Amino acid sequence: MGIITGNTAVYGVIGNPVAHSLGPLMHNKAFAGLGHPGVYVAFETRDIGQAMDGIRALNIRGISVTIPHKETIVPHLDQVDDTARQIGAVNTVVNDKGKLIGYNTDAYGAVKALTEKTGVKDKDVVIIGAGGAARAIGYGMLKAGARVYILNRSEGKGQKLAAFLGASFYPLTELSRAPCDILINTTPVGMAPNVDEMPIEPEQLTDRMLVMDIIYNPISTRLLASAEKIGANVIDGVPMFVYQGARQFELWTGLDAPVDLMKKVVYKALKE
Ligand code: ATR
Repeated sequence: MGIITGNTAVYGVIGNPVAHSLGPLMHNKAFAGLGHPGVYVAFETRDIGQAMDGIRALNIRGISVTIPHKETIVPHLDQVDDTARQIGAVNTVVNDKGKLIGYNTDAYGAVKALTEKTGVKDKDVVIIGAGGAARAIGYGMLKAGARVYILNRSEGKGQKLAAFLGASFYPLTELSRAPCDILINTTPVGMAPNVDEMPIEPEQLTDRMLVMDIIYNPISTRLLASAEKIGANVIDGVPMFVYQGARQFELWTGLDAPVDLMKKVVYKALKE
């Protein structure tokens, strides 16, 4: 964040809770890195309709949207882009001269985090979980040309997401039945403070899987540590978080996001 003047544009994240979000640190360092006159703050928000009125009234330029507002925000926007509409969730709002446009950059973030390390096209991708994150990631993987399999604890929710995506469903215990080049955990299992948990058994992992966790706190979850131990490649949750944010940054400013700087800042904060 540079010096705040009369021309500083305001951005922020709306959600509840938001106090521990890494968005403010990441985006403010990115603005400063490029000399963009912007400031990004955390808005703890209960009423999404009132929040959207406030954004219009105050000409706040761009918003990140997080739990619990990603779905309920949709009717309060003027326009929702195709990807966000198909996923059914918005994580980014651009205020284009008073017109609020919703986007979803989670699918992009997940695909980009993977394509840095490996191809996705024609790969077999197994997604653990069937919530909003699984929906966005499953959508992104299918668009990138992968085959997708949903593994979930509750069968009903898992079957429903699989049907929505046109993918196959397997119970959590039956990973070995699904072909798997890439395994992605989208559940909160293993997130701090429950760092000793993992969503599947270590024995279900093989060394030919690339294992990605979208949890970034801790950076190395028990799932990733178990995968590394048997020689599998892993991707922690930071790249996806950074790339979804980098895409937001580009939608708001029209500038190329300083991705390496953003990664560095987020890893440093998580290690402190
Ligand atoms: P998000 O929107 O972040 O994806 P969500 O919609 O609450 O969050 O979805 C969380 C996912 O994690 C669900 O698929 C949930 O499984 P169920 O459908 O069986 O509830 C999964 N999940 C949460 N806690 C879990 C646990 N302890 N073990 C296995 N799966 C779990």
